[in-house]
Amino acid sequence: MSSDKKLSELSQHFLFSDIPEDFSDIVKNELNLDIWAKYGNLELKNPVIVAPGQMTTSILQLHLIKQAGFAGCVLKSVVAEDKNQRCSMKILRKKPTKVETVYDETDDNGEFPIIHWDGGLDTRNLEEYLEFAKEASKIKSPDFQIIASLLGHLPSFDQDFIEEEWIYTTEKLYDLGYRFFEIDFCPFLKEQDHLMNQKTILRWYRKIPEILKKSFKDISVFPKIMNLDYGIDFQIKMVESSLAGNADGVVIANRIYKKEFGCAHGGEELRIRNLQQVERVHCLFQNCSVSATGGIYKGKHIFDYICAGAENVQILSYLMGKVKKPFEKKGNRFQQVFYKLMLDIEDGYLATLLKKKEML
Ligand SMILES: Cc1cc2nc3c(=O)[nH]c(=O)nc-3n(C[C@H](O)[C@H](O)[C@H](O)COP(=O)(O)O)c2cc1C
Repeated sequence: MSSDKKLSELSQHFLFSDIPEDFSDIVKNELNLDIWAKYGNLELKNPVIVAPGQMTTSILQLHLIKQAGFAGCVLKSVVAEDKNQRCSMKILRKKPTKVETVYDETDDNGEFPIIHWDGGLDTRNLEEYLEFAKEASKIKSPDFQIIASLLGHLPSFDQDFIEEEWIYTTEKLYDLGYRFFEIDFCPFLKEQDHLMNQKTILRWYRKIPEILKKSFKDISVFPKIMNLDYGIDFQIKMVESSLAGNADGVVIANRIYKKEFGCAHGGEELRIRNLQQVERVHCLFQNCSVSATGGIYKGKHIFDYICAGAENVQILSYLMGKVKKPFEKKGNRFQQVFYKLMLDIEDGYLATLLKKKEML
């Protein structure tokens, strides 16, 4: 039987049944496609994980993400505290005043939602957050990886770092078994204009991995690159600084803050911009692990990021925003999105891999 026919059968089968834990083995056996992936030295059963944000704040969501077939997720970012509950970035525990789905002009059917949202990081204090992280760590397995994410003190250029905040919070998560940490440089910092100068930013990207890696020998640190207005060369400098600080990789890249919206924006513009950055980083720093995020709504988008040099991809808006065109697959949104991204017969990840294989 031809591979196309086999994919059609698989696609039809999983339209009505849940994705099993050994889905990657099935894909290998049936289609001879290898979809395993990496996040640094962590094995992923496929290249798609759920990005930190509003879809990774509760235990129920994590169970649903796992059941749907995703290879893992990154927890909503926590704002760091020191042992006396000092929290210099408390302002980022910001509840949203608006949540809205918008669409690119070219998206006539409202299929590719973009979230406009003005909230910040996790609103819980560290003690409450650690209760959640503890329960979350029980869901973690080789089949479903869970990565932590945090943000601590970010000083202006002439200030020292309050290292205690970074170290205490990381230690608490470390004690719960977390070894992979993303650093979220929240796009809302853009509102704190006095901090957003190039020298200050590059110092953050270098120093924070340095502080964490010197305190915990066996952790991996992945700073999330911000999308700023200083041009691509500066984007690359943020990566370079992270690596100089001994980061294990980077996440490329957070959404673009737009003053006119009063919040960050994503979609096609973000995807095009991020693809370009992933390509440049891969070309310049071949050993740098890259996790790519931004504007993923099709298997083809996953494929493009992987071809550009990313090890895996992270999605959020497609899971969270309103999609006007009904999904073919019944079930919850996590199941519908995973199915569409992987198994869509036209432009799912498997269909795209098969097409490329045929062209070789
Ligand atoms: C509502 C919302 C909340 C988010 N919260 C976080 C966060 O806490 N930490 C973080 O690193 N990124 C956060 N992000 C960024 C996402 O993780 C993701 O990288 C970004 O939205 C791009 O992917 P997408 O185009 O699939 O949404 C958030 C994004 C949205 C829309």
